[in-house]
Amino acid sequence: MAVQGQANLFSEEPSQKARSLDRGIERQFDVTFVSGLALREKQIQQNYRPIIAVHKWFARRPGTLFRALLLSEFVEGALKETFYESHDLAGRQIADPFMGGGTPLLEANRLGCSVLGYDINPMAYWVVKQEIEELDLYKYREAAAEIEQQLENEIGDFYKTECTLCGKRDAAVKYFLWVKTHRCGNCTRVFDLFPGYLLAENRRHPKNVLLCPSCGELNETEERNDPGICSWCRTPLILKGPAARSHCACPDCGTENTYPHKSNGPPQHRMFAIEYHCFHCRPYHQGRFFKKADAADLDRYREAERVLLNSKPEYIPDNQILAGDETSRLHRWGYTHYREMFNDRQLLGLELTCRAIARQKNQRLREALSTNLSDLLRYQNMLCRYDTYALKSLDIFSVHGFPVGLISCESNFLGLMKEKARVNIGSGGWSNIVEKFFKAKQYCEHPFEVIRQNGRKRQIPIADEWIGREREGKRSRTVDLHCASSTQIDLLPRSLDAVFTDPPYFANVQYAELMDFCYVWLRRLVTGEVFHDQTTRHSSELTGNTTMERDLDHFTEGLASVWSRIATALKPGAPLAFTYHHNTLEAYYPLSVAILDAGLVCSASLACPAEMGASIHISGTGSSIVDTVFVCRSTGRISRRTLASTPREIAGLVEDDLEQLTNGGHKPTRGDARCIAYGHLIRLAIWHIRKTWKKEGETGEKLQRISQAVRELGGIEQVEHYLPANLSPISGKRTVRVKEAESPPYEVSF
Ligand SMILES: C[S@@+](CC[C@H](N)C(=O)[O-])C[C@H]1O[C@@H](n2cnc3c(N)ncnc32)[C@H](O)[C@@H]1O
Ligand SMILES: [Zn+2]
Ligand SMILES: [Zn+2]
Ligand SMILES: [Zn+2]
Repeated sequence: MAVQGQANLFSEEPSQKARSLDRGIERQFDVTFVSGLALREKQIQQNYRPIIAVHKWFARRPGTLFRALLLSEFVEGALKETFYESHDLAGRQIADPFMGGGTPLLEANRLGCSVLGYDINPMAYWVVKQEIEELDLYKYREAAAEIEQQLENEIGDFYKTECTLCGKRDAAVKYFLWVKTHRCGNCTRVFDLFPGYLLAENRRHPKNVLLCPSCGELNETEERNDPGICSWCRTPLILKGPAARSHCACPDCGTENTYPHKSNGPPQHRMFAIEYHCFHCRPYHQGRFFKKADAADLDRYREAERVLLNSKPEYIPDNQILAGDETSRLHRWGYTHYREMFNDRQLLGLELTCRAIARQKNQRLREALSTNLSDLLRYQNMLCRYDTYALKSLDIFSVHGFPVGLISCESNFLGLMKEKARVNIGSGGWSNIVEKFFKAKQYCEHPFEVIRQNGRKRQIPIADEWIGREREGKRSRTVDLHCASSTQIDLLPRSLDAVFTDPPYFANVQYAELMDFCYVWLRRLVTGEVFHDQTTRHSSELTGNTTMERDLDHFTEGLASVWSRIATALKPGAPLAFTYHHNTLEAYYPLSVAILDAGLVCSASLACPAEMGASIHISGTGSSIVDTVFVCRSTGRISRRTLASTPREIAGLVEDDLEQLTNGGHKPTRGDARCIAYGHLIRLAIWHIRKTWKKEGETGEKLQRISQAVRELGGIEQVEHYLPANLSPISGKRTVRVKEAESPPYEVSF
C-alpha cells in the first residue's frame, strides 16, 4: 500500500480517485468565464444558439450556461478549454422535467447524452421535437420557396405601393402602420388615438419623421424638439399626441373620452403610414422610405378584405380567449376571440399559408412548415408595434404579456429579400421565418461556438457534435420526449446521471396563456399528437396564477413532488442543477421546501447572467438579470468556505460573486446583488435545517420554517447592510473578504 501511495505522489498524473474528486460543478464551474459567454449570448442569442429560431419560447436561458454545467460535471480539465472541444458523453442519461424551449436538453443531446424531457405544455413538447428531429434541408428549402411563390401569386399585390420619389407602382411595403381609433361618446365622430407623432428617430434614418397632426403628411426634420411647421399645410408639428393614460379629447366637440371600452368590441384601426422599399430608388436614396398611406393603399386593403370574405376559411381558429392573468388585458380591450387580434389581410395570408402547408404530402416537411406558420403568427397580428428607434416590427411576444399599443405595425406577409443574397430586408414575413429556421436546423448538423479574438467574433466548428438522434457512422443516442406534468412522472430509480433544468419562476411567465395564441392555430394544422385539448392551460401547471387560483402553496407542493421523484431517479450523488431567479425572496422558499422534501442538499449556488442587459421587460426597473444556479445532491461534498453563518460572511460570498461577474464583463446592479444573496441565503437555510427537516406537515408551515431559517441567518437586510453602497466596479472597494478555510478539510462531506 505504501509503495502505491508513493507511486502516486511522484507520478505526474493524479490518481484516478483524486481526479474524480476534482470533478463536479462545484469545483469546475467558472463563474467569470461563463458569465462572459452568457452575456454575449443573451445580446444576440440567435448568433450563439441559432437553434432557438425554430420557434419562440419564453425566457430561454443561455445554452452556453448549460454546456458549461454539463462539461464541469462530466469532463476533466479547465472549462475555458474543454468548452471549445468536441465531446462524446454517450451512455449518460440526462433529464429535464421542465424542458420549455429545450435549452438544457439540446445541450445534453449535442454532447452525446441520452435525454428524457417533460413539459406540461403541448407547444413546448412540439417545439423541442421540431428542434431535435432530423430534416432534409434541401427539400425543406424547396417546399418553403414553393409556398412563397404561391403566396406571391395570390397576395403579393397587396404588399405593393407607389414610390413617392420615382412614382413607380411596384415598391414593396415593409410595414403598414395603423393607429387605433375611437368613437366619441358625445358626438359619435371617430377620431385617432395618437400617443405621439414621431414615426422614426434620426438614428437609423438621417432625419426625424413626424406626422402632421392636421393633414397626416409625413415631414422629415433635423430638430426633434423644434420640428417647425408642416411643409404641406403649415400646421405646427408636435411630438406629443392627444392620447395619454387611457384619455383622449375628441377633436370635434372637445369631450374627454376614455378608452378602451370593451363593450365597443375589439379595437378599430386606421392605416396612416407605410415604410416601404423601392428597388429603383435604393441606390440613390439615403435612409428609409416613408409615405402617408394613399387611396390606392387603402383600396388594396379593401380588396384583401373582400377576398377573405369570399373565401371559406378552414384554418382560422374560432377559439375564445379564456380569462387569465395575462389575457385579462385583451378582454379589457374588447378582444373576445383570437381571430380578432389580426386584420383581414393578415387572416387571408395565414389562411392561404395553412392551406398550402396542408397540401404538403411529406409529413416531416409539413411539420416543419406548420412550425413556421405558428412562429410567423407573432409577427402577423395587430398587437405588433413599430420600434421608432430600430425601425422594425416588435412582435407580440417582445415582452412576456399582451401589451396593446395605440400604433400597430403590419409587416409584409411574404417578407422581403435582397435578390440573390438571401438577406432579408425588414422583419416579420414568411421569408424571415424560413431563413432563420433553415439556419437553426443547419446548426443542428454543424454546431459551433463563438469566440472573440482581437475584438472580432469567430465561429469555431465543434466538428463531432450534432443535435439529433442519429448520424451516419456515429453512435446514436435516445431522445425521449413527453407532454406530461412532471408532478406525476414515474422514473426508474437510480437511472439518471444528472438533471439540468429551468423550472418556472413562480408567476414570472404565464406560458400557457401566452402560447395559446399560437396553439389555437397550430392544432388546426397538426391533428392528433398532443393537440387534443382546446387550450394549453392546465391545472397542474406550476406557475402562480391568480385567475386559476394557483398560489405559492400549489407551486411548492408541485415542485416538491417533481424534485422528490427526481431525487429517487438520480444515481446517488448525481446532481440536480437548476436555474432560478425572482425579485422577491419569498418566491425562493418553495424551492427550499422542494429540495428538503426530496432529501437533497444544496452544494452550491452559482451566479450567472441570464437575460439581456437591456431586455425590454426588465430595463429601467433596476431588477436583476442574474440567475442563481442551484446545484443539489443527495450526497457529496461542499466547500467549507461557502458555509457562511453570519450576514457579514454571506455578504463576503456575494462580493466574491459580484467580482467574478464583473471580471466576466457584467456591470452588477443592486438587484443582482440581492438575487445573489437570495441564492446563498436559501442554500444556507437548507444546509442548516436539513437534519431536522420533517417532510410531513402543512405546506404553509414548511414555508414558515424556511422563512425562519433565513431570518436566523440575518435575512436579506442584514446581508445588504454589509455590501458596499456602490457596486461598480466592485473590485478594489470590497467591504468584506471571504476567508479561505485555514486548515483542512477544505470540504465537508454530506
Ligand atoms: C422556464 S420554462 C423552461 C424554459 C426552458 N428551459 C428554456 O430554456 O426554454 C418552464 C417550463 O415549465 C413548464 N411547466 C410548468 N408546469 C409544469 C409541470 N407541472 N410539468 C411539466 N412542465 C411544467 C412550462 O410549460 C414551461 O415550459
Ligand atoms: Zn422609387
Ligand atoms: Zn366628440
Ligand atoms: Zn400638414
